[in-house]
Amino acid sequence: MAIQRTFSIIKPDATKRNLTGAVVKMLEDGGLRVVASKRVHLSREKAEGFYAVHSERPFFGELVDFMMSEPVVVQVLEGENAVAKNREIMGATNPADADAGTIRAEHALSIGENSVHGSDSLENAKIEIEYFFNDKEIVG
Ligand code: CMP
Repeated sequence: MAIQRTFSIIKPDATKRNLTGAVVKMLEDGGLRVVASKRVHLSREKAEGFYAVHSERPFFGELVDFMMSEPVVVQVLEGENAVAKNREIMGATNPADADAGTIRAEHALSIGENSVHGSDSLENAKIEIEYFFNDKEIVG
């Protein structure tokens, strides 16, 4: 299987509860390698741009406000089949549906405050990585 890169966000509910290390450990234990990472406080513009695909959804305002509420950690993860692997480690979007042992089952508070984001395709991973990182910031 191919080595891929995917994009990850450790969301405000997790950074606020000091779970950054716990989340990274679950990603690393699952076989992914952090090849870029930075802690940032998103502006409204940056958060709205990132989630533009959801702009017509009823929860968009709530989602943007939440993502600006505390710092986040944006990361590039590398590994075999990294896009699908990251989604497997994260678990379902709604923690009520997430398999035991996944990040969202262990740590998420609700469908909105669900601790992590991960790219849903290789194509979106590339777009999302480029939204936050330049080539020099990714050290594989
Ligand atoms: P994420 O993978 O970051 O992509 C879009 C986010 O929208 C998703 O995770 C959820 O956190 C959020 N989301 C999806 N559905 C809802 C909802 N019904 N209410 C609030 N937030 C939602």
